[in-house]
Amino acid sequence: MEREKVIVLDFGGQYNQLVARRVRECNVYCEIYSYKTELAKIKEMNPKGIILTGGPNSCYEEGAPTYDKGIFELGIPVLGLCYGAQLMMQVLGGKVERAQDREYGKTRTLIDKRSPLFSNTGSLLDSDKAFAGPLTEKELKNRSFDEADTLVTQVWMSHFDYISRLAEGFAPVAYTENCPYAAAQNTDASLYAIQFHPEVLHTLEGTKILYNFVRNICGCAGDWRMDSFVETSIKNIREKVGDGKVLLALSGGVDSSVAAGLLSRAIGKQLTCVFVDHGLLRKDEGDEVEAIFGPGGNFDLNFIRVNAQERYYTKLAGVSEPERKRKIIGEEFIRIFEEESKKIGAVDYLAQGTIYPDVVESGLGGESVVIKSHHNVGGLPDFVDFKEIIEPLRDLFKDEVRKAGLELGLPERLVFRQPFPGPGLGVRIVGEVTADKVRIVQDADAIYREEVDKAAAEYKTTHGEDPEWMPNQYFAALTNMQSVGVMGDERTYDYAIAVRAVKTIDFMTAEAANIPWEVLQTVMSRIINEVRGVNRVFYDLTSKPPGTIELE
Ligand code: XMP
Repeated sequence: MEREKVIVLDFGGQYNQLVARRVRECNVYCEIYSYKTELAKIKEMNPKGIILTGGPNSCYEEGAPTYDKGIFELGIPVLGLCYGAQLMMQVLGGKVERAQDREYGKTRTLIDKRSPLFSNTGSLLDSDKAFAGPLTEKELKNRSFDEADTLVTQVWMSHFDYISRLAEGFAPVAYTENCPYAAAQNTDASLYAIQFHPEVLHTLEGTKILYNFVRNICGCAGDWRMDSFVETSIKNIREKVGDGKVLLALSGGVDSSVAAGLLSRAIGKQLTCVFVDHGLLRKDEGDEVEAIFGPGGNFDLNFIRVNAQERYYTKLAGVSEPERKRKIIGEEFIRIFEEESKKIGAVDYLAQGTIYPDVVESGLGGESVVIKSHHNVGGLPDFVDFKEIIEPLRDLFKDEVRKAGLELGLPERLVFRQPFPGPGLGVRIVGEVTADKVRIVQDADAIYREEVDKAAAEYKTTHGEDPEWMPNQYFAALTNMQSVGVMGDERTYDYAIAVRAVKTIDFMTAEAANIPWEVLQTVMSRIINEVRGVNRVFYDLTSKPPGTIELE
């Protein structure tokens, strides 16, 4: 049976993946395509709805991204967001102009409660005086429907251009002080235009608005759920693989672990996972991976653990240049994997943990979606004798991968693991890597994470939510600095540990998290007392940019 889907046409805005994620939260499967995708291809995909996203351009400018008018004549509901809304009007004969002032930020918006877009919205702010007050003079000027039909909500606006005239057949269904057409609809043609961003959480009822579009207007059944995804994937993998053999490089990270879990449930011992312990994992992590996927674990598969710690330390001896270290770690991994796969012999499939953001990011910019096939395992396909690549998670966003992991019975500790770089502690030890330095950073990191987790859990118990300071990534790193200290009556000359914790949404920019002083004090004293070879602890305050999250 064909999977029901909505298509998100990407016009280059910054929130476009978010649009797709919000639609998926409504249990509707959706895919992102470039605005350059041809109409015939879209038709062929037979979507139940189409969403045109925001974008950085002005649609009236020469060469700005546009779309064939035919997209509005397919009889498929279309929702335009921000640039997408303006483009819809422009293409259908309305007018878009530059506004005198940019409208930006949280904005009180008056909505027409009769619009199908706004079912079950608008009541949220009735009790909030700031939002429920009488219409201002400017709002009165933009008013386009009866006061009795008007409700108030808060939306996120970010635009210079505005729709100054609606296309024929459209009626206004929302306005603000600065925007006469904050939303408009042509219900006969099932076309909807929204100037604001429902995908952003500052639009308080944004998910409900998107739900109204995909579930009520497009009529999607809402059958995209992770339990059925797991079930269907298992069936599909079985059909595809038959009695063939599959090989997977398992790193212990979320994506490759969920891929392993899924494949194991589907084909059991036809799957072989190679787990390379490069000696640069966090404390006890190698054993944890083995406990889950190894012979005593609860997955049926062939598990090969390669203990390559010494091999890596030998290769890395005397090397201190970060890029050189990264390269050695990557190349050694390929070499080991190659050796192991030679032992196994030819396989039918090489499995990879590619996820949907990898697919989207490698396909944007007008090209058709191309798989970044080397993304996860850096060059493996060149070295392994296989017929085809299999990517069981390529349709999933990260939060969906985690949900699938839980469905498969993977432990929460693994599923909600924070990101960990491929080269591991290799990029958290400044300068040369040695076995002793690895021990120091592993022990310090374990103490630091334990204390942060403990403080966060205590806060959650008393407040019912995560603390404001809860970082998205936190770890200890070993600086290459030794300095003088005193312990008991003895002079020491030992290493300084840097502890780092960042708050970030996309890992492209980040700020140091405001970890409570008492927690840092406990961490400092525990690290110095418990980890031999450390006599100083620094807290890294650097934002990204100018710093990076990792120290190398
Ligand atoms: P940076 O240090 O570049 O890190 O600010 C951004 C995010 O990427 C992770 N990271 C890596 N992940 N291989 C990886 O798989 C790498 O070489 C690598 N370097 C950084 C880092 O942990 C952070 O989440």
